[in-house]
Amino acid sequence: MKRIGILTSGGDCQGLNAAIRGVAKALYVECNNDVEIYGISDGYRGLIEGDYKRMRPDDFSGILTLGGTILGTSRQPFKLMKVVDENSVDKVKLMKENYKRMKLDCLVVLGGNGTHKTANLLSQEGLNVVSLPKTIDNDIWGTDMTFGFQSAVDIATNVLDCIHTTATSHGRVFVVEIMGHKVGWLTLHAGIAGGADVILLPEIPYNIDKIAKTLSLRNKSGKSFSILAVAEGAISDKEATMSKKELKAARASMPYPSISYRLAKELGEKTGQEIRVTVPGHFQRGGSPCAFDRVLSTRFGTAAANLILQKQYGYMVALQNGKIVPVPLSEVAGKLKVVPKDSDIVQSARDLGISFGD
Ligand code: F6P
Repeated sequence: MKRIGILTSGGDCQGLNAAIRGVAKALYVECNNDVEIYGISDGYRGLIEGDYKRMRPDDFSGILTLGGTILGTSRQPFKLMKVVDENSVDKVKLMKENYKRMKLDCLVVLGGNGTHKTANLLSQEGLNVVSLPKTIDNDIWGTDMTFGFQSAVDIATNVLDCIHTTATSHGRVFVVEIMGHKVGWLTLHAGIAGGADVILLPEIPYNIDKIAKTLSLRNKSGKSFSILAVAEGAISDKEATMSKKELKAARASMPYPSISYRLAKELGEKTGQEIRVTVPGHFQRGGSPCAFDRVLSTRFGTAAANLILQKQYGYMVALQNGKIVPVPLSEVAGKLKVVPKDSDIVQSARDLGISFGD
């Protein structure tokens, strides 16, 4: 009899339930139902507090297309994991104790970058851990793609499509803010798919005058509208010279709710054009996973189950060149997969005349 714990941690995304289902169904089939699966509530919070419940095969039925996570999730910052808090709570110790109390053979963790740092820590502390890469940001090192990404690209693209019609009718400039504080994969893909004229990413600092020039040139050439796809974490060339601390302080004192509003104000003043802002926000993480994510989540799920059956612990399942492969957690943890400035997809956008504001 195998006993497996499973948790989802960090920001939710589409495909979490499809992946949970993939792990569970494959385990039930391969173990001939000789397996007990424990659902741990709200990510590492549940493991710290011992909040879990025995799941039944029925719990994993009918969830392939369901958004969110049936297990709940929470953000538990890695930097605080090893800090014993004012109530003398040692989170790592508690997680290890609860793992033992549950008599687990393996802990399955579905999460993004922060989650993987803790997964690696638990693995180094002697727990058997297998993980799956989730996030709309597609920024996990070691995998060509995370699940959730394609669904979010579809949603953000749909936003750009809808904004396009209004922008065209009114002859306006629209700034569409797309999720991604540290990396711009989502903005880049949605921007290309949605026909944006300007794409601003955290990886490529922009110059405000260059963007204004692009807008003015489009205007002069008879195109009365323009669409800017802007990542939450887009930064100006001036901000790029700041330290992390300085940038944080500068952003905190900015009299705008987000970067898009600042851009709209600055560009409106420089071009005299009417500029509107649209922020789809968490809408991008919601709803049913697209077909691609259902397939990817399922493949990751069954691959994770197979690693458990082979007692191959300490790995994240990853997509590399079309194949699902195990990547050691120690290699994944602490790394970020950013958009390379010289990647062919960036070049392809440039070839099309899309401006990155640089
Ligand atoms: O990591 C996923 C993500 O949606 C980012 O794109 C975004 O910057 C962040 O999470 C938002 O975090 P929260 O849901 O905590 O507001």
